[in-house]
Amino acid sequence: MFFLPLALAAAPIPASVPGYELGTAGAPVSLEMFADFSCDDSANAWKTIVKPLVEAYKETASIIYYAFPLPYHHNSFDASQAGRVMTDYLSRSMPLSQAFTTAADALFGQQTRFMSWQTPNPTANLTQGGVISAIFADIAADAGVPRDFFMESMGIGWNMTYFEPTRDTWKWGAAKGVSATPTFAANGVFSDALDSWTLANWTAFLNPPSRV
Ligand SMILES: *[C@@H]1O[C@H](CO)[C@@H](O)[C@H](O)[C@H]1NC(C)=O
Ligand SMILES: *[C@@H]1O[C@H](CO)[C@@H](O)[C@H](O)[C@H]1NC(C)=O
Ligand SMILES: *[C@@H]1O[C@H](CO)[C@@H](O)[C@H](O)[C@H]1NC(C)=O
Repeated sequence: MFFLPLALAAAPIPASVPGYELGTAGAPVSLEMFADFSCDDSANAWKTIVKPLVEAYKETASIIYYAFPLPYHHNSFDASQAGRVMTDYLSRSMPLSQAFTTAADALFGQQTRFMSWQTPNPTANLTQGGVISAIFADIAADAGVPRDFFMESMGIGWNMTYFEPTRDTWKWGAAKGVSATPTFAANGVFSDALDSWTLANWTAFLNPPSRV
């Protein structure tokens, strides 16, 4: 008997590759990061590992960011949608990778405003719409995205233009077995060992002596 793993059967085929390429697509080495805007470890890895690597290796490595909102971080799905809305707007006037980086910096930088797992939870008494208009619209404005555009695009969190790709990116990661953030893949391979890789380890991997 032959069984397909359930996850393969359950994942929809996304309309396009679901992550944000911050380096060079098709480069011989790659780093993939699955991260959650409400996760402090994700914020730290973004700031201290991924951004410096993008800076150094964007011409020679593929570095892809996948938004992977964990279900028990209640505002994370909307944070991921907000990141898409912001990136869409900003990419009208700058390269997509720079637009995404600007959005991610803003969301990670102000994550304590929407991290529902804090005690006390700062959003405990807000509705979903309230979190969007009082917190995410503010963060978007700080990143240079007009509040009107942001609110028209986000609505109350159910604009299919943003909802569907955000959902499909999550399903895509889940089908690959991702269940925590940050999760890394090196040249497409997931390994627990990558959790402890430092900037120096990634630098050695992306830029081995044989390739310089
Ligand atoms: C939420 O409302 C409760 C009940 O009024 C109050 O005790 C609590 O401090 C509020 N929490 C926040 C974060 O505003
Ligand atoms: C979804 O966002 C787009 C882009 O900003 C906007 O033009 C459209 O009106 C929004 N749709 C809904 C149903 O809110
Ligand atoms: C990571 O770097 C440290 C020191 O720079 C080294 O000892 C270790 O072996 C490296 N780990 C991997 C998996 O390359």
